Amino acid sequence: MQPILTEADGADVLVLASPLYFDTISGMLKVFMDRMIVKGDPHFSKTDSGESRHWKNPDEKLPCLLMMSNCGFPERSHFQALSHWVQRAALNMQTELLGEIYAAQGGLLSMELPPVKSYLQWVKKAGYEIGLGQALSDETKQALEQSFLPDDVYIRNANQHFDNTLAENNLNRNR
Ligand SMILES: Cc1cc2nc3c(=O)[nH]c(=O)nc-3n(C[C@H](O)[C@H](O)[C@H](O)COP(=O)(O)O)c2cc1C
Repeated sequence: MQPILTEADGADVLVLASPLYFDTISGMLKVFMDRMIVKGDPHFSKTDSGESRHWKNPDEKLPCLLMMSNCGFPERSHFQALSHWVQRAALNMQTELLGEIYAAQGGLLSMELPPVKSYLQWVKKAGYEIGLGQALSDETKQALEQSFLPDDVYIRNANQHFDNTLAENNLNRNR
C-alpha cells in the first residue's frame, strides 16, 4: 500500500476500475479504498448540507475520482448501487467525481466485434478528455452508454455459451 499511497500523493485523478461483483466493486478494490482512510483527518465537522464529514486540510489536494466498471448482465441498471457508492465516496473524500464509465454486456469486451472496437475508441477519447482536465463531453458520455447488442440477442448468445462450457466440462445445470 505504501508505494501506491506515495504515487497517489499529488495525483490529479485516481482511476478506480473494477468488474461489478454483487452489484458493487470487487473485494480487492474495496480493501484498497478502506486503506485510503489514512489519507483523511479523523476530526468531524458539519458541511453546508447538514451531514458530517472528516475535516479537510485546505493545503492538501486529494485526487479527483474516475470510476470504471463492467458487468455481465445486459442492462446498465445493474450499476445503480455502484454509482451511488462512488458518488458517496467522492463526497466523503471531499473530492470531485470526474466521470463514471460503465459497460454492461461485459462478456463481449474481449471480443473483436465492431461495436466493442468503437466503444474502446470512445473510452480512449474519455481518457484524453480527463487527461486534459475536462469533464466527459456529452457526446462521449452518450457513446459510452450504448449497448453492444440488443439485450435478447446478448442473453441468447450468453446462454448458448454457458451451455457449451458446461457441456465441455461434463457439468449439468437444468434450467
Ligand atoms: C463474484 C462475481 C459476482 C458478479 N456479480 C455480478 C453482478 O452483480 N452483476 C452483473 O451484471 N455481473 C456480475 N458478475 C459478472 C462480472 O461483472 C462480469 O463477468 C465482468 O465482465 C467480469 O470482468 P473480468 O472478466 O474483468 O473479471 C459477477 C461475477 C463474479 C465472478
